[in-house]
Amino acid sequence: MIRCGKGLTDMRNRCILVTGGAGFIGSNFVRFLFETEPAIEVVNLDALTYAGNLASLGDCLNRPRHHFVRGSITNAELVRLLLQQYTVDGIVNFAAESHVDRSITGPQVFIETNVKGTLTLLAEARTAGVARFLQVSTDEVYGSLGQTGAFTETTPLSPNSPYSASKAAADHLVHAYHHTHGMDTIITRCSNNYGPYQFPEKLLPLMIMNARRDRPLPVYGDGLHVRDWLYVRDHCAAIWAAYQRGKPGEVYNIGGSNEMTNLDIVRLLLARLGKPESLITYVQDRPGHDRRYAIDADKARRELGWEPAVTFEQGIAATVEWYQGNPAWLEEVTSGAYQAYYEKMYGNRDRAG
Ligand code: NAD
Ligand code: DAU
Repeated sequence: MIRCGKGLTDMRNRCILVTGGAGFIGSNFVRFLFETEPAIEVVNLDALTYAGNLASLGDCLNRPRHHFVRGSITNAELVRLLLQQYTVDGIVNFAAESHVDRSITGPQVFIETNVKGTLTLLAEARTAGVARFLQVSTDEVYGSLGQTGAFTETTPLSPNSPYSASKAAADHLVHAYHHTHGMDTIITRCSNNYGPYQFPEKLLPLMIMNARRDRPLPVYGDGLHVRDWLYVRDHCAAIWAAYQRGKPGEVYNIGGSNEMTNLDIVRLLLARLGKPESLITYVQDRPGHDRRYAIDADKARRELGWEPAVTFEQGIAATVEWYQGNPAWLEEVTSGAYQAYYEKMYGNRDRAG
């Protein structure tokens, strides 16, 4: 048996099972933990799908307090073994299929990972007596907003894409394990993240990458869809605050109160990169495209004492700078299968629908 963690009372000595810790937010979260919690141990379970990359962990990878395990959250035996091997007192579940567009063309794996995987983790965590289970969810479970208002924690779930439907199903399972079995669970629902190590299938890194290569910037539909953007490190801080101070069974919305249309984001990026707006290309819209998201994060501010620390201007500057300074990472994640993906998604999508 490998012992890590010295007890539930001392947060600094805790051992956390982080799933999906080689992805965008997960790798930023692992880095955040090592920077802010000097004695924490992390068991990082990640299947290393197309979206997971060990290079995103940088020098966190070889720290003695980091134990990386390649494997799936759907593998009950593996999860059981890890929970026997390590003295884990909490799970933070990032592992997921996370891209809406991919869920439209191939929903099956979203059910496998996001629904069955979460159920597997809940069942094994319960058997092992894990003290706290934090589910990293999304504002997309609430569906789409009209021109005004914002999602609160009591907004009914109304997911519109196969991705958000799978995340909502997972949220219901987490709630059910709390309600039925008394498990100590927390759900966080965050708005759109941006920052370093985001796979370039998502809006910001895709647009930065294409602009740098003088390729067309594919804006879906009229480009007036609205998202509420939060710098990834602020999301990580909110998750950690919820893990430490959240009340069992509660949901916390997380967001930056920073609503932008996609078109405004793309124009901003072009201006920062010194590239012409003529690169913008309107392409066929995403089927079922949610028009607007906005998050009311008042509960997280009041109950967790959390506040975003990075302004949008600072975050965008840091993000653009990071992608400009890390061409090797971009090259690595976009070689091979990425080319085929891009052709499939954008090859025949050359006009606004
Ligand atoms: P990502 O796609 O960048 O990373 C997902 C990670 O999970 C990858 O490392 C991948 O290898 C791993 N993974 C996938 N299937 C797995 C499996 N079966 N077992 C173990 N590991 C597996 O995603 P992200 O953007 O970092 O999102 C992380 C979480 O945060 C997701 O649950 C997502 O729903 C949620 N979320 C994301 C955002 C956002 O803006 N990106 C906002 C709110 C919530
Ligand atoms: O709101 C939280 C969600 O944010 C997370 O749960 C998801 O995991 C994450 O992927 C993100 O979902 P979105 O669908 O909002 O992100 P995406 O970056 O794919 O798209 C952002 C907006 O930009 C959306 O309105 C679609 C649009 N878009 C996207 C791409 C990739 C374009 O116009 N062109 C593009 O090429």
